[in-house]
Amino acid sequence: MARILSTSPLFPDLVERMRSAGHDVGLPSGDEPTPHAQLRAEIRGADALICLLTDRIDRGLLESAPKLRIIANVAVGYENVDVTAARARGITVTNTPDVLTEATADLTFALLLGAARRIAEADAAVRRAEFPAWGLDQALTGVGVYGKTLGIVGMGRIGTAVARRGRLGFDMRLLYHNRGRNEAAEREFEAAWVPFERLLDASDFVCVHVPLTEETRHLFDRRAFERMKPTAILVNVSRGPVVDEAALVNALEQGDIAGAGLDVYEEEPDVHPGLVALRERVVLAPHLGSATRETRRRMARLAVENVLSVLAGDSPLTPV
Ligand code: GLV
Repeated sequence: MARILSTSPLFPDLVERMRSAGHDVGLPSGDEPTPHAQLRAEIRGADALICLLTDRIDRGLLESAPKLRIIANVAVGYENVDVTAARARGITVTNTPDVLTEATADLTFALLLGAARRIAEADAAVRRAEFPAWGLDQALTGVGVYGKTLGIVGMGRIGTAVARRGRLGFDMRLLYHNRGRNEAAEREFEAAWVPFERLLDASDFVCVHVPLTEETRHLFDRRAFERMKPTAILVNVSRGPVVDEAALVNALEQGDIAGAGLDVYEEEPDVHPGLVALRERVVLAPHLGSATRETRRRMARLAVENVLSVLAGDSPLTPV
């Protein structure tokens, strides 16, 4: 019997699945995730850890985990885990790719459309009992999406799912920038690889789907915004620090770009006050990329399957 520790509550059938495989499952006592200090005490006896992006799994914590064999992060990103330190201790790290791709691509389009058609502002106006008079240039007029140019930065799994929506759903012209070419996306969606600067120059909408690395940190800085069209809208559902938020606020205030749809922030859960103050064509979501019921279930299930495989001596399904 192994001890599996989950830092947050899990779906009961998945807990049951682990228990019926003969394991002991430790869960937080209430609805709240386990605080770091408590996790440090509890991890000592754990063979497996199921954790979230908001749990910091650092070297210090791993030093308190002599028995740990697997860290199953319930997220596709894993910058919260010190993978190098884990590997050095022979601990497998897994993530949850693929199962969240379509939900995240859906949210990308929700933010893109929301910013373009000013849905948050419109909703707030109706709730204030303001119903702008119909007119050719009426209040809350937005910009069109259909047939425009979509620039995708990072053409991996999620970028490709966004490309499919843009091309097949909205007849958009697709530009992309990626370290390597994505020939399938070029073939299927007529996506054209272009240098980053060219993508900034030519796109009406720029969507960001890169992981956070030293190369992508502040990829979108003042110079990037100055290159973008003054009518362009930026959508970021990847990681907050890919965008220099202070520069973004400045670019929106100065009219270097027209709007933004954001799901991620540099200092989550804090959001730059400058962004909060900007309402026109700015839509803000609290890191909801994978937040559909179906997707969250699939993510949790995949994490559990990874744990059960490793504890059974088999290979993990989705190692990082
Ligand atoms: C969410 O941001 C994830 O990495 O799954």
